[in-house]
Amino acid sequence: MNILLTGGAGYIGSHTTIEFIEAGHGVVIVDNFANSNPLVLKRIEEICRQKIPFYNINVADVVKLDEVFYKHKIDAVIHFAGLKAVGESVKIPVKYYRNNIDSTLALLEIMEKHNVNKLIFSSSATVYGEINNIPYIETMPTGHCSNPYAWTKLFIEQILKDVAAVNQDFSVVLLRYFNPVGAHPSGKTGENPNGIPNNLFPYISQVAVGKLVELKIFGNDYPTKDGTGVRDYIHVTDLAKGHVAALEYAKRHKGAEAINLGTGIGCSVLEIVKTFEKANKIKIPYQIVGRRAGDLAEYYADVSKAALLLKWKTQKTLEDMCRDTWRWQMQNPNGYN
Ligand code: UFG
Repeated sequence: MNILLTGGAGYIGSHTTIEFIEAGHGVVIVDNFANSNPLVLKRIEEICRQKIPFYNINVADVVKLDEVFYKHKIDAVIHFAGLKAVGESVKIPVKYYRNNIDSTLALLEIMEKHNVNKLIFSSSATVYGEINNIPYIETMPTGHCSNPYAWTKLFIEQILKDVAAVNQDFSVVLLRYFNPVGAHPSGKTGENPNGIPNNLFPYISQVAVGKLVELKIFGNDYPTKDGTGVRDYIHVTDLAKGHVAALEYAKRHKGAEAINLGTGIGCSVLEIVKTFEKANKIKIPYQIVGRRAGDLAEYYADVSKAALLLKWKTQKTLEDMCRDTWRWQMQNPNGYN
C-alpha cells in the first residue's frame, strides 16, 4: 500500500516510516519540521536504502495537502502531526487546539475528497484522565484530562468516531500510546528534544553523556512499589510495528477502534535508572526532589485488545530500550543539531 505519514519526520513518525518500508509499503512524508529536523529524512533513507517522497507543508494547509493527494495515490494515512508538549499546552492552549484540531479536520476533508478511508491516529494514554484504576483498558471512560494537549487527543478521537459513524467505508484505529522510549537499533534515529528534556529517558541519556549533571527524580512518596512514579515504557520500534499491524486490521474492518499500545508492565523511575546503569555500564547520579505537578502515581496498559485484534505484542525488553537510547545518544550527543 502507499501510506501518507503526517509528522513522519518526528520521533515516532520517523521510526514508523522505517517499519512501514521494511514491511514492503510505499511511503510519503508530510512534515513542517515544527519539532523535527531535515537530517531525519537522510537518516531514514540511509537505514532503508531508498529515496522517500517528502513535502515540507503544514497539514492544516488544505491547498498544499490536496496537491500531495493528487500527486500520489494514497491508500491510507498515519496521522502523527501535532504539538505534544504537555506543559506548553497549559500555557498556550489556543495554539494547541487550533493546531492539532485544524490539521486533523483539514486532513479529513482532503481524505474524503480523494476517497481515502483508512486512518491510523496517534492518540495517547493521557485520554484515560485522572479517574481510572490501573491497568487502563479501552472500555474505561475517558476524560477528566489534566491539560489541553490531552484534551486535543480526546477531542480528535471523538471527531474520528463521528466520521466513522456516518461514513460506512471509513476505518480508523485510535492508537493510545503509553510511554514511547528508545531509538532505532542502528543508533541513526532517536528522540531529539528541544532544550532541556521534560521526559525521563532523554533526560537520563543527557546525564549519561555529561550534558546534564544529575537526574531529578520527581517524588519518592507515591503509593508505588518503591515510591517513585510507575509507567508503561514501550520501545519506539515495537510501537512503530503496532502501526503496521493496525493498518492490516483497518484493511479488514470498518468503523473506529481505540487500542492501547504498551507492554502491560509498569516500571518505576528507580527501576529505569538501575536498568540503564546495568545495561550500559554507566552511573546515573540522581537526587530525589518534590513531585512534579500533574503527574499520576502509576499507570500501565491492559494490552489484551491489541493482542486479539492486531495480533501484535511488544518484543523488546527494558534493557533494549536503555541500550538503544544510549547508543543513539552516544552517536549523536547533540541529536540532529
Ligand atoms: N520523571 C522524573 N524526572 C524527570 C522526568 C520524569 O522523575 O526528569 C518521572 C515522572 O515523574 C514520571 C516518569 O518519570 O513518573 C515518566 O515521566 P515522563 O515525563 O517521561 O512521561 P509522562 O508519563 O509524564 O508523560 C508521557 C508522555 C506525554 C503524555 C503522558 C500521559 O510524554 O506526552 O505520558 O500519557 F501526555
